[in-house]
Amino acid sequence: MNELDCQTASEIIIFGALGDLSRRKLLPALYQLEVCGFINEESRIVGIARPEQTIEEFKNFIVESLNVFINEPLAKDVLMRFMARIVYQQLDMKEAAAYSRLAKTISENNHVRIFYFSTPPAIYGDICKGLDHASLISVKDRVVMEKPIGNCLKSSKVINSQVAHFFQETQIYRIDHYLGKETVLNLLVLRFANSLFTNNWDRNSIDHVQITVAESVGIEGRWGFYDEAGSMRDMIQSHLLQILSLIAMEPPADLSAASIRAEKLKVIRALSPINLTNVKDKAVRGQYADGFLNGIAVPGYLKEDGANTASKTETFVAIKAEIDNWRWSGVPFYLRTGKRMPAKHSEIVVYFKEQAHNIFKDSYSELPSNKLTIRLQPDEGVELQMMNKIPGIASQMNIQENKLDLSFNDTYQNQRVIDAYERLMLEILNGNQSLFVSRDEVEAAWTWADSIIGAWKATSDIPKPYAAGSWGPVSSISLIARDNRQWVE
Ligand code: BG6
Repeated sequence: MNELDCQTASEIIIFGALGDLSRRKLLPALYQLEVCGFINEESRIVGIARPEQTIEEFKNFIVESLNVFINEPLAKDVLMRFMARIVYQQLDMKEAAAYSRLAKTISENNHVRIFYFSTPPAIYGDICKGLDHASLISVKDRVVMEKPIGNCLKSSKVINSQVAHFFQETQIYRIDHYLGKETVLNLLVLRFANSLFTNNWDRNSIDHVQITVAESVGIEGRWGFYDEAGSMRDMIQSHLLQILSLIAMEPPADLSAASIRAEKLKVIRALSPINLTNVKDKAVRGQYADGFLNGIAVPGYLKEDGANTASKTETFVAIKAEIDNWRWSGVPFYLRTGKRMPAKHSEIVVYFKEQAHNIFKDSYSELPSNKLTIRLQPDEGVELQMMNKIPGIASQMNIQENKLDLSFNDTYQNQRVIDAYERLMLEILNGNQSLFVSRDEVEAAWTWADSIIGAWKATSDIPKPYAAGSWGPVSSISLIARDNRQWVE
């Protein structure tokens, strides 16, 4: 991190400042950066939204949001500093002529402008036009875009092109908040700071990899949005492919954005296509039905508030992904994500190959393979499953499977868990694009995802029901069982 860059004065301009993302994530993240002293004293935070509001009303909204989403008492002096930066500007974001009012608010200084688009992507183009109309864009400014960037390759190209008309790729920060999670970042350290793993990270040593991102929540009142997307677009195309690419990429030459993004892109482009010919064997989609979570009855997807009872949108996906390159030929990556699963639980499990020969047959007929588990959330940590001799005297060598467990909670007891948005905000302030997704990556991911979605459509595939509170439809178990493997649970 180049902390000097934090010294650059900036105008952080949040479009959609009264929205859910702003109150849950962006404002709390900025407050935490204030606590750490990472925001230049001259920087300002400009909230933009449609409603007329006084600055006092906006500030009250901020304090209420911080009180709800920060799990510790707010520090008075920090809060005062933070509030002194706040500016509110009412704006009809689709109205280019209105941006001259914004210009009056932000053009009186020479700060780097960070335009944070926390609005539906459909208006990204309008915002760019408005900013341009008021001559508010310069080469040193940055623009931040939230996912989803489109809902297919074609629509993502439209959005990317609209923004690219006004900003260079080096100015664009596309958020995938998983890249800001501590444990996802730790993948880089685990892989490239430990020769034990660096040297055994390929088809010669690894049998297969499982990536699970399970959520116990349903669609949290977002039926309209979610039904257009489904798990494939909402989770697999973005978060799971990003995790997969960090796990599978070649060692980047350094930590620069150019090196990391180039290697991730190669992985996404090397994904073996799933299409009409193989979709039935490689991908399963499901939709949660009525069930129980922690003993409490919960309604199925089609009974959620506002539901279209004939919806065929998936809330669960399991995929056998394969990477067609030298390192990973023959090593499947099983991906699985879903709503209303038994717990919020995300992890990566790397199964190493079995021992070629077993000299402990007398006590253990089939030696289990080593297994590396990277717990992304909750209970963040890393665990290595290995064989060990049971101490004691006996006529034969008694052995058992044990684990080396590095729990982040126990090891770094006094460390607050940093939210992904804090990390990402800091990187944006620093002008570092390493943790943001390039246009090429987004488009390569859509190319792969579109093919699967297209195949489901062409085969009139209907999502298989699974009971809320279960690990997904039975066919997701068959997907992996066909290869004589099973999901870790
Ligand atoms: C978002 C999806 O990108 O990620 C949501 O749109 C999902 O549907 C969320 O719930 C999961 O994020 P996290 O950080 O809670 O794992």
